[in-house]
Amino acid sequence: MNPNNKNDNPKDGVIDIRYVKTGYRFNLDVFDKNNNLILEAHTPLSEGVLNHLRASGIDRLYFDPTKKSDKESSPVQKTLLSEELKNETYDHTKILLDEMRETFIKSPGDSISRGLIEKSRALVDRIITETEKNGDGIFEMVTQLHDLDDYYYQHSMNVSIIASILGSRLDFKPEIKSSMGVGGLFHDIGYSSVSKDILNKARLSDNEFDIIKNHTHVGYKFVEKNPRLHDLEKRILLLHHERADGEGYPYGFDIDQYQNNIPREVRLMCLVDAFVILTLPKPGENSMTPGEAIRFMVNMVYAPYKTSYAFLPADFRDFVRAIGSILNKGNLFMNPGDLVRTSTGEIGIVEEMNRLYPLNPRVRIVKNSKMETLKRPITIDLIKSYKDYVSNIYDRNSTGKFSVNKQDTLNRT
Ligand SMILES: [Fe+2]
Ligand SMILES: [Fe+2]
Repeated sequence: MNPNNKNDNPKDGVIDIRYVKTGYRFNLDVFDKNNNLILEAHTPLSEGVLNHLRASGIDRLYFDPTKKSDKESSPVQKTLLSEELKNETYDHTKILLDEMRETFIKSPGDSISRGLIEKSRALVDRIITETEKNGDGIFEMVTQLHDLDDYYYQHSMNVSIIASILGSRLDFKPEIKSSMGVGGLFHDIGYSSVSKDILNKARLSDNEFDIIKNHTHVGYKFVEKNPRLHDLEKRILLLHHERADGEGYPYGFDIDQYQNNIPREVRLMCLVDAFVILTLPKPGENSMTPGEAIRFMVNMVYAPYKTSYAFLPADFRDFVRAIGSILNKGNLFMNPGDLVRTSTGEIGIVEEMNRLYPLNPRVRIVKNSKMETLKRPITIDLIKSYKDYVSNIYDRNSTGKFSVNKQDTLNRT
């Protein structure tokens, strides 16, 4: 191909990243080898994205030359996961958690049956295959509660599905994404040992809260010696409530321990779990839309008045980059016109969003980092330097309806 032609598309559907340059525009959508969308058709390739691709070890870009880009002409939203497989995952999660409750009550010395583990693995493999095949679709969580038990089934199945998708879109090895999905299904089995009276209580005594918090340790102890579950899956059970600011449990790791002792995949599971808690309502409770939850998490991760973060900014950016545009019915969590603060401290107004890197929009800066109003606002494209990004989104209509301490809720499930 002629590297000077900015509208060129390779004939064989694959291109070596060494031959593309900043500013390239392709007529077709560009994917990585796992069919994850890298660049939408007609979008110029910025230096920030190119550097990021190189740093992520992506060396080839893929096209489907038989397929025309039809994003604007097609209002029909493709779904990542079929209703059939969603329903099957729900049924399986229910069987799994019900059996765990039976075991904890009647024979706590038993282990999880081999069949259940094998079925879980097979199911997660199908979720990964299906969601990778439908790479440019959207995912809608299951949030129709029939009763309170449903909350726990749906929580675990949503965590499992989103974790599987996240693993795929971050291009993790097959065994890692599988373990994230399986770990998601099993991560809260420790709750099966807690009485339903306590689980269903709105207000907990300190003692009851300790029992709730113990679910990570109880779940881990139950699977610790099970040779059929992988080490990563066991760590997900034990560590999914740890937080980078030392406020998590069971160990209350500080930032260094959080970063060094918890694998990245498990830290991402902490984010998925928190996201699902925010978006799945318990009966009688308010919940957030996926878009509201991501906005809430942006502000929680980067809160300017805080000196420590609940999650590592780098993990959160991976989370948003991978799944920020597939949730929320395909709408982003931020829009042109939103008032934001950048990671370098300026205040600006979003002019244009970048779907693939939603924390890196084009922003009109109105105040500098010393909070001085600029006489002439300047526009910067945050994707040009991937290390700068939106770190806070100011809400015009305050999220007052969530003022019931969501942060507390985050520690419970
Ligand atoms: Fe949990
Ligand atoms: Fe959970």
